[in-house]
Amino acid sequence: MSGSNHGPISPKCPYLLHGADYYPEQWLEEPEVLAADIRLMKEAGINAVSLGVFAWSSLEPAEGRFTFGWLDRVMDELARAGIWAILATPSGSRPAWMSRAYPEVLRTTADRRRILHGQRQNHCYTSPVYREKVRTINRLLAERYGRHPALILWHLSNEYGGECHCALCQQAFRAWLKRRYGDDLGRLNRAWYASFWSHTFTDWEQIESPAPHGEMLFPALTLDWKRFVTAQTLDFMLAEIAPLREYSPGIPVTTNMMGTYPGLDYRKLAPHVDVASWDSYPRWHGSGEPRHGVGEWDAAGRDWKVAASTAFAHGLMRSLKGGRPFMIMESAPTFSNWHTVHKLKRPGMNLASALLAIAHGSDTVQYFQWRQSPGGFEKMHGAVLDHSGSSATRVFREVAEVGRVLRRLEGVAGAGVPARAAILFDWENRWALEDGSTLSPDGGPDYEATCKRHHDPYWTLGIPIDVIGMDDDLSPYRLLVAPMLAMVRPGVAERLESFVAGGGTLVATHTSGLLDENGLCFRSGRPGPLRRLLGVHVEEADGLYPADCNSLVMQPGNLLGLEGEHAARTVCEIVRAEGAQVLAEFGSDFYRGRPALTVNRFGEGRAFYLACDTDDSFLLAFHRALAVGLPLERALPGELPEGVCAQKRTRGGTDYVFLLNFTPNRAVVDLGAEAFEDALAGGAVRGTLALQAYGAAVLARPASG
Ligand code: GAL
Ligand code: ZN
Repeated sequence: MSGSNHGPISPKCPYLLHGADYYPEQWLEEPEVLAADIRLMKEAGINAVSLGVFAWSSLEPAEGRFTFGWLDRVMDELARAGIWAILATPSGSRPAWMSRAYPEVLRTTADRRRILHGQRQNHCYTSPVYREKVRTINRLLAERYGRHPALILWHLSNEYGGECHCALCQQAFRAWLKRRYGDDLGRLNRAWYASFWSHTFTDWEQIESPAPHGEMLFPALTLDWKRFVTAQTLDFMLAEIAPLREYSPGIPVTTNMMGTYPGLDYRKLAPHVDVASWDSYPRWHGSGEPRHGVGEWDAAGRDWKVAASTAFAHGLMRSLKGGRPFMIMESAPTFSNWHTVHKLKRPGMNLASALLAIAHGSDTVQYFQWRQSPGGFEKMHGAVLDHSGSSATRVFREVAEVGRVLRRLEGVAGAGVPARAAILFDWENRWALEDGSTLSPDGGPDYEATCKRHHDPYWTLGIPIDVIGMDDDLSPYRLLVAPMLAMVRPGVAERLESFVAGGGTLVATHTSGLLDENGLCFRSGRPGPLRRLLGVHVEEADGLYPADCNSLVMQPGNLLGLEGEHAARTVCEIVRAEGAQVLAEFGSDFYRGRPALTVNRFGEGRAFYLACDTDDSFLLAFHRALAVGLPLERALPGELPEGVCAQKRTRGGTDYVFLLNFTPNRAVVDLGAEAFEDALAGGAVRGTLALQAYGAAVLARPASG
């Protein structure tokens, strides 16, 4: 969570950072470009650049021959201009000479094919040669620039991701398994339920990572392989960090993550970096389902839904470091070339999306990228400067406007986001659910989407909400929403019980309490170790086809004050109340009249159980009733127009209330009775405030509470 004052990302710059990925190695033969860049960066209010990402072949053109001269000049020029450097380690893409000389650095895919040199983030994390090469260049960078006046932060590699299945990685996997199972193969066989399909291992060497032409239907193996991939990536990351800590003590370290990227449990990486950062590429103004790629989007094309989904990832990044401000390391100033449609950000959206990040606890807004490259795969990707290098563009003007606004919001740096509610989103739970052996594989509820659907009502109401894992500290919260908590690792049920017994409110849903930490089904009856806390027993779960619908019928006089019938879809569980009070029942089919929503009083608190998947309108009504009942504080007391976000950060006795309109229409916000100061335009504001399409305002008031 989320106290109020945190230290700045670097003590050198106790204000918000505005920056971009900068690749000067692409213009070494045109020195006038560097001069123009620095001049234009100042004009755009850029005070930090991320540099050196992917620069390895310019830093070590041949093995052991280092060419730091160009980087020396860039660093010096930046320092002279008062622009900070976030210096990257170059491990995200290595030079061709290395792949040729040491084929072991090349990654091996799941089908056991060693890839050829090419692309990026394609190395073996285990390879001793690669680790040695990385250690050497990282040490040289740290020795050379560790005390450079421009340096504020190390940026590790670029978007760690993917996995390697080479022989070295297989050995590392087996060694990791030996540690996990205390060198006891019998223990592993039992934990994996290996007697099924005669999968029992009699020698560690028989164990192989999942492969399309081998084992893909062994859930416990797949789960441990995913854990191993995170562990091995972390091990590689720690090897990258070691020389930086040794040769440039005191310089903080980050690595750019990818929001809810499924391949790595970022909670395992987070304790080892000083700041969390991520690359945020929402699909603004889009509709329909993206054909490829990841990122935040809404099928119906509502920008405020995209904003809410992005806010979920911001909340996740903030919560990774216990509420410390995080960084937006990359965002598109206009469009992303890998989005299926190259839709431009509409006027105003640059500022609104930048302030969305700041409102949720980011202390930076950075872009990919500063200057558009004339060649390479990303030659058409949006940038602050287009190919002509001109500042006379709409995009440049809008970026410069973000720069001016961030300067005015200097006091926000380090401010906390005072969340008293949290949503539980856990990678291992996700892996267990997405395994294909757990849910209706076709049309069953999606875990990430379900978490977001329970998150969005709080966002809509202007209530800050953290995004935490099942092992995180629950003490800061009054409310915990834990959708589809299928996996319950040891100790978690006990911690949830003491959270509720101590007065907390828990919301659990269908698909809870199914699996232990190895993905094996509990034999104590669903919802397994949560049965006592929730006061229900789930006898069966009915999967619904897309055209099927049941209903959830609110019981008269229920304590939430909700009424009417609401759609029940995708999954309906047949529940017996074991002490819980029934708030709603199913309206049809053979389980008509069975509980659909219950609440169990447990100690001083209450545990709700929602036994079906349902519509957003019901989720909004349900969570609103909870939030009002507790109550949870809202950024503004009044109702917000649809699509307007209200979030606050608090620092040094001041609340900064961010009001952002994620609709293409003008919106009028009711400010209630309080008086505010307009932190951007100056002057007093009270009563109502009008926001233009994609308009933004930041209002200050003395901190409440
Ligand atoms: C990021 C990546 C950048 C650039 C960008 C384009 O994921 O880190 O290097 O490729 O995407 O959107
Ligand atoms: Zn490998």
